Amino acid sequence: MPLSVSENGKGPGPGPDLSVEDLVMRFGGIAAVDHVSFRVDPGERVALLGPNGAGKTTLFNMITGDLRPTAGRIRMFGEDVTRLDSSGRVRKGMRRTYQTSSLFDEMSVAQNLCLGMLGPGATHHYDMASSAYRGEFWPRAAKVAREVGLSRRFFAKASELSHGERRQLEIGVSLCLKPRIILLDEPAAGLSPEERTTLTHLLEQLPSSITILIIEHDMDIALRVAQRVIVMSDGHVVAEGAPGSIVANEVVQAVYLGQSRRKHEPC
Ligand SMILES: Nc1ncnc2c1ncn2[C@@H]1O[C@H](COP(=O)(O)OP(=O)(O)O)[C@@H](O)[C@H]1O
Ligand SMILES: [Mg+2]
Repeated sequence: MPLSVSENGKGPGPGPDLSVEDLVMRFGGIAAVDHVSFRVDPGERVALLGPNGAGKTTLFNMITGDLRPTAGRIRMFGEDVTRLDSSGRVRKGMRRTYQTSSLFDEMSVAQNLCLGMLGPGATHHYDMASSAYRGEFWPRAAKVAREVGLSRRFFAKASELSHGERRQLEIGVSLCLKPRIILLDEPAAGLSPEERTTLTHLLEQLPSSITILIIEHDMDIALRVAQRVIVMSDGHVVAEGAPGSIVANEVVQAVYLGQSRRKHEPC
């Protein structure tokens, strides 16, 4: 792992958990992500903001290995993972949630969490009667359910959960393999004000050792959860800084008022 000089000048500290360098994703003639670079330090909480179509989900898809970048480099814990597939990144400690639900509706909260512990590729055909399921996974599923506020719904089918509870379960599933980095794609989308409050509280309570990158449209949630904010528009990073400075930033205000123009580039 590369070492960097810490800010207090007391010598080398650990390098970033995640770094993206000059990342580009082109779809036909459009650069959805256009030379984006940033780093996320261990345990840091970073919010990714920007209007619809800014390139946030595409950036996530490249970071998690769901999409192969057109150009650029991605490092996890100092190691170049640009060519590693998504399962390989999960094994190194990365998990994500999706904008759309990825739960098994006909299975209980407990069963969804147990499948989460099996990792990528697990299906509902997994034998729930096996000893691993009863002995090893069950207690841990109960612990994760507690962490995401779903203990009372442990035996409920995913299809019976409210929208907010489903989001809580999705975050629970992402916690199952004891991740070091999690990426959350708009976890509060479509939630009621009460559900948002529950979710914000849950995010604030996550273990401080977990590094979090969160896409969130709700500024209040993003600014409460994040220590640093990166704002994207038209595939570019247009602002980056502490939450307070971002709210006052004129470029950010212009972007949110829809004053930025979409740029079409040749392939
Ligand atoms: N698979 C794809 N094929 C073609 N264009 C895509 C694809 N995925 C995303 N895009 C385009 O890339 C741009 C960024 O999309 P996206 O990353 O989903 O933005 P955001 O998550 O910020 O709303 C949009 O113009 C979108 O239409
Ligand atoms: Mg998106």
